[in-house]
Amino acid sequence: MQMTASELRKRFLQFFKDKDHAIIPSASLIPQLDPTVLFMSAGMQSLVPFLLGQPHPQGTRLANVQKCIRTDDIDEVGDTFHLTFFEMLGNWSLGDYWKRAAIEMAMDFLIAPEYGLGLQKDVLHVTLFEGDKEVSADEEAAGIWEEMGISRDHIHFLPYKDNWWGLGETGPQGPDTEIFVDIGISACSKTCRPGCGCGKFVEIWNLVFMSYDRAADGKLTPLERKNIDTGMGLERALQVLNQLSSVFETPVFKPIMDKIKAITKISEPSAEQMRSMRIIADHIRSAAMALADDQGLVPSNVERGYVIRRLIRVAIRRGLQLGVEHFFLGELIPPILETLGGEYDELLRNKDHIQKEIEKEEKRFRTTVRRGLRIAGRILDEKGVLTGKDAFMLFATYGFPIEMTVQIAEEHGQKIDIGEFREEFERHQQISRDATQQRFTSGLTDHSEEVIQLHTATHLLHQALRQIIGPSVYQKGSNITKERLRLDVQLNRKLTAEELQQVETWVNEIIEQNLPISFETMSPEEAERQGALGFFGEKYGNQVKVYSVGDVSKEICSGPHVERTGVLGKFRIMKQKRIGADTLRLRAILKVEG
Ligand code: ALA
Repeated sequence: MQMTASELRKRFLQFFKDKDHAIIPSASLIPQLDPTVLFMSAGMQSLVPFLLGQPHPQGTRLANVQKCIRTDDIDEVGDTFHLTFFEMLGNWSLGDYWKRAAIEMAMDFLIAPEYGLGLQKDVLHVTLFEGDKEVSADEEAAGIWEEMGISRDHIHFLPYKDNWWGLGETGPQGPDTEIFVDIGISACSKTCRPGCGCGKFVEIWNLVFMSYDRAADGKLTPLERKNIDTGMGLERALQVLNQLSSVFETPVFKPIMDKIKAITKISEPSAEQMRSMRIIADHIRSAAMALADDQGLVPSNVERGYVIRRLIRVAIRRGLQLGVEHFFLGELIPPILETLGGEYDELLRNKDHIQKEIEKEEKRFRTTVRRGLRIAGRILDEKGVLTGKDAFMLFATYGFPIEMTVQIAEEHGQKIDIGEFREEFERHQQISRDATQQRFTSGLTDHSEEVIQLHTATHLLHQALRQIIGPSVYQKGSNITKERLRLDVQLNRKLTAEELQQVETWVNEIIEQNLPISFETMSPEEAERQGALGFFGEKYGNQVKVYSVGDVSKEICSGPHVERTGVLGKFRIMKQKRIGADTLRLRAILKVEG
């Protein structure tokens, strides 16, 4: 019998629950307090403060299933195992158990037949950190694996780039051990081993021995309290457990792939057609999950919206390559709801939003494509050639993708000068690149003074809006950088000048009163009883943190915040903008006085 996704999630969580782990819910796909990342890319991301030493309200052993979006490998999608959206099964020790116990538990779960995965030991291979100038090779973990019955020739030492894990350059990190399953197909070469991309060795689980914190200057400091961070890819585990040749045949993908085959009327795809089908399935699933997050995301030209736009547009282009001329993406939403809706309520809650935005984007993009084709055709008629500059103009002015210009040029026996396209691109992007650069180098989980202050100001702004406009206004999303806060609220109009003034005055009065900020840990029910605000339709765990500002604001939040409002400086709303029918976006700053 096939292992289903829900059975696998259930087994994983039950296994770790039996080993005294508290089960915590998946956090939103959108990191709430980390301006440096667009999407949650690993289970550990929402746990960074706790990995750095803050006590977690649920204790020192945690496990969950976290939804993740990773775009680093987006160009690899289409092979047998890369995905942009995936579910990560994880267990954590926050200064509790260490290497031996982590490996023993992993091994137990991998091989136990009834409550684990029932894999044979001889299909398992593990990789370990080979050591470098700073940290020596992980012989300790190798020894433990050997004791567990993994033979030496299935234990591979690999360099830093393969077997060292952290979210970014800085922050909590350490050597890891990755577990691969040999799926039994023949090796692609004599040197084929875990880490090779041919698909013979499928990496299913990563155990990180998080023992260091790396500062911005590169210095590695041992953590006082060492942690274990693990991540098992649910789709890959399903592939190997069900002995399939790719993640796209697993129960979480099959209905989507079947639908694509029906739409394209291609039942026996060539390798390239199969690649396109997988890309469509992956990208639309990711876009749907991102749009499902209760934060009112829409396709756009910036940040998260841009990722969603790119996913959708690449899927349409792949559809065109498969000969699909009609609108088709909307038809893929039902199988996505069918495969993931049971686990993620937000998909069902927001299904109209998802359907509408994906269909709207498809319409928009097909118009763009038609217009681009017309203009490119005109240029070709007039000049007989398409230059790199033309390609950039088509891209910048009409949103026409460079890949399509390249394709048209090829059809006319020409080659686009990509160097010239790039030069133009670079020139025009300089300013925005500098700005982005600044954002992405500002540290990992930004707990800078500025971000913390703006975080407290966000709570005050939220409260002020509820106070002045009414309690139907509630937070839908927020994003904080060192320079400004951004708050999206449920409201179907802009604020009047007078309301804006009142909101600013309310916040500034609270700042002047220098009220203390404190938090208490309690059950979500108690938090609700006390009137604390909770957002995003999240499923909370057993215990939550509730932050209070004096007695004017109370919100469920994991912090951190300033100690007293007096340090905040002068609060000013800089901009308001409607994004969609029911959402108002406000940007505000804190100005240091004097
Ligand atoms: N955080 C580790 C990973 O994502 C487990 O691979």
